[in-house]
Amino acid sequence: MYLGIDLGTSSVKALLIDGDQNVVASASSNEIPIHRPHPGWSEQEPADWVSACEAVLAVLARDNGPAMAAVRGIGLSGHMHGATLIDSSDNPIRRCILWNDTRSHVEAATLDAQPEFRARTGNIVFPGFTAPKLFWVQNNEPQHFSKVRYVLLPKDYIRLWLTGEHMSEMSDSAGTSWLDTGRRDWDDSLLAHTGLERRQMPNLVEGTDSAGVLRPELAARFGLSSGIVVAGGAGDNAASACGMGIVGGDGAFVSLGTSGVLFSANDAYRPRPETAVHTFCHALPGKWHQMGVILSATASLNWLADIAGAEPADMVTELGESLLAPGPATFLPYLSGERTPHNDALVRGAFAGLGSGRKEMTQAVLEGVTFALADCRDALQATGTAVNRVTAVGGGSNSPYWRKLVASVLQIPVDVPVQGDFGAALGAARLGMAAATGSDPAGIMTPPPIEQTIEPDLSLTQAFSERLNKYRQFYPAIRSIFP
Ligand code: XUL
Repeated sequence: MYLGIDLGTSSVKALLIDGDQNVVASASSNEIPIHRPHPGWSEQEPADWVSACEAVLAVLARDNGPAMAAVRGIGLSGHMHGATLIDSSDNPIRRCILWNDTRSHVEAATLDAQPEFRARTGNIVFPGFTAPKLFWVQNNEPQHFSKVRYVLLPKDYIRLWLTGEHMSEMSDSAGTSWLDTGRRDWDDSLLAHTGLERRQMPNLVEGTDSAGVLRPELAARFGLSSGIVVAGGAGDNAASACGMGIVGGDGAFVSLGTSGVLFSANDAYRPRPETAVHTFCHALPGKWHQMGVILSATASLNWLADIAGAEPADMVTELGESLLAPGPATFLPYLSGERTPHNDALVRGAFAGLGSGRKEMTQAVLEGVTFALADCRDALQATGTAVNRVTAVGGGSNSPYWRKLVASVLQIPVDVPVQGDFGAALGAARLGMAAATGSDPAGIMTPPPIEQTIEPDLSLTQAFSERLNKYRQFYPAIRSIFP
């Protein structure tokens, strides 16, 4: 048995698989609170993550005792970029500043203006990344900054709790702006730009390597064996890719979650930061990946549903079953700013061309998010990464309408996996398996069976291309009205 633990932004999910990768059990925690004390801020208490992990492990121990006793390896996945500051007694110094917190946009721009950052990390220094957050803490909370013994990423804080080790791995660390992504090592000079040293960073392994063993007291508490291996694991996007077997070649997925991601695995490192594409290490040795990230995918639909006082799924049902030609209204999904392709923390969402009502707005929201993904596809293309086919994942991909829209706007086939757990928790469990068995990771990270493939609606290709061109004119047109 192998156990995957995925620390999501909203909850923790744990998944048990057997040696043949059958899912034996899973458990999810209650919602983890997010604190937003000021506009643009987004924070969580690391203690709440631990409580959520304790809750899911207790459920698995209660309901699946024999399977838990047979676990040989654990893998971790988690939301990326969060700054978890630890003092010399291993206690959090302040709440974790999350991936979707944009307070440090000025610090990000300052660091990004130093050519070294893009040259070594292969990425823009986005406000959501970790280094500008530390720069912000240094400038605004010097009393906290002076106490920083370690900077940990969220899932690596869970590792500290599980094993007592300060360790990380390449895929998550590539999202800090301190990693030399090509060399897969911390960069002392980049750390120095934010007043930090290598000794304040966790030691690095590959995601498939062991990065600690379970503490005996936790093993006893949850009915696990003492001394089982905790793998390096991965950031949640790389972990999802491991769950879907997207680890090399030109495999790609589109994730319609709170944020939206168009992800491609790469066999070589080919950064092109000016495209605002993220180029990170993959969780497997010698592999990288690239992704376009949009900050509000299902978040945009949920936002509209909240205002309309309706369920998001019901609003999509109102559109009917067949894909509609682009509607009269256009929506820019920049509710929290945007990463790819604009790198703009201050822009906000917009509607244009409104005339009738709710149905028209729902259609515009789905189309706007999908056009934003088309922008990501073109940005990836500009780095040399062609996305010719994708597997659809995330809550939004449960909508047949949205899947058809993605296929038709991107003009590529969209594969829909059979019902099942093929996300980050499975990827984490697979990384746990790789670390515990030493087997070839590529043999473990296989794709799920595909239930159906959605082909583009060719009768709408031209209409969507024309509308995408119009959509692209809105951002420059409205940009000057934001700070
Ligand atoms: C990726 C990113 C998000 C978080 C959310 O760069 O910021 O996908 O990892 O979990």
